[in-house]
Amino acid sequence: MKISVIGAGNVGATCADVCAHKELANEIVLLDIKENFAEGKALDMWQTAPINLYDSRIKGVTNDYAATAGSEVVVITSGLPRKPGMSRDDLIETNAKIVKSVTDQVIKHSPDAVIIVVSNPLDVMTYCAYLTAKVNPNKVFGMAGILDTARYKAFLATELNVSPKDIQAVLMGGHGDTMVPLPRYTTVGGIPVTELIAENKLNAIIDRTKSGGGEIVKLLGTSAWYAPGAAAAQMVEAVVRDQKRIFPVCAWLQGEYGMKDIYLGVPVKLGKGGIEEIIELKLNDAEKALLEESAKAVKDVMGVLDTMNMF
Ligand code: LAC
Repeated sequence: MKISVIGAGNVGATCADVCAHKELANEIVLLDIKENFAEGKALDMWQTAPINLYDSRIKGVTNDYAATAGSEVVVITSGLPRKPGMSRDDLIETNAKIVKSVTDQVIKHSPDAVIIVVSNPLDVMTYCAYLTAKVNPNKVFGMAGILDTARYKAFLATELNVSPKDIQAVLMGGHGDTMVPLPRYTTVGGIPVTELIAENKLNAIIDRTKSGGGEIVKLLGTSAWYAPGAAAAQMVEAVVRDQKRIFPVCAWLQGEYGMKDIYLGVPVKLGKGGIEEIIELKLNDAEKALLEESAKAVKDVMGVLDTMNMF
């Protein structure tokens, strides 16, 4: 079993490291375009194996896609991260070209792989990978919902002074400021969150979640990596272990939620086949309106990709 992670930057390296810790495959290939970069990171990680006691072999390569051949799952993290003052959408011109060329190579060497996209702007880069790969969209999807939900849960855990383990939540929509956390579907140890927190405090947490990526960009001068890398690895785990986990994932909609031909964050079941089911919640009118607003924002950026005439 082989997993490949494309891009050995902070997010890609963290994802590979978490996959190794969890022993999700006997071979994990880390690929980067920068000479010796993935080799160096992979070697450093492999030297943690005797300390952390795992035996997944991590191999770093410079642009050698042949080394990724036959991967069961490929995570694409390639592209530029955000700098302060940038929105994720500002990255489209550069990252679309990168994601297209990476996906071309990935699919050539691993035609049956499940592809998990992490590059930004997330929803549209997932669309770009899908247009390039030309495979069943159940096998091409994006990581955003687990990260955004994790931020929401982490803020709630701090505010309520409870274990993050006890918080369950769903969040929908695009990976941007229009994402839609859903308080009606948020519970703490089985108790609806609305019974535990004042409305104004919950609304403040929802707002902080929506700009949670930007908060880190401001602090660090670049985008986050621990939570994005761990979130991508959790999706890899659900696939390789056929866990049938229910996660919010950026998925290709064909009529679900009344939407068509759009990649958007929705709850899905993840297993061996990738997305095995899209779950349709019975949203109320206010929730539907927020989701539609988020879909419109994603469609606008998908439109920018369409006008780049790359396909
Ligand atoms: C974030 C970036 C990875 O939300 O999109 O941190």
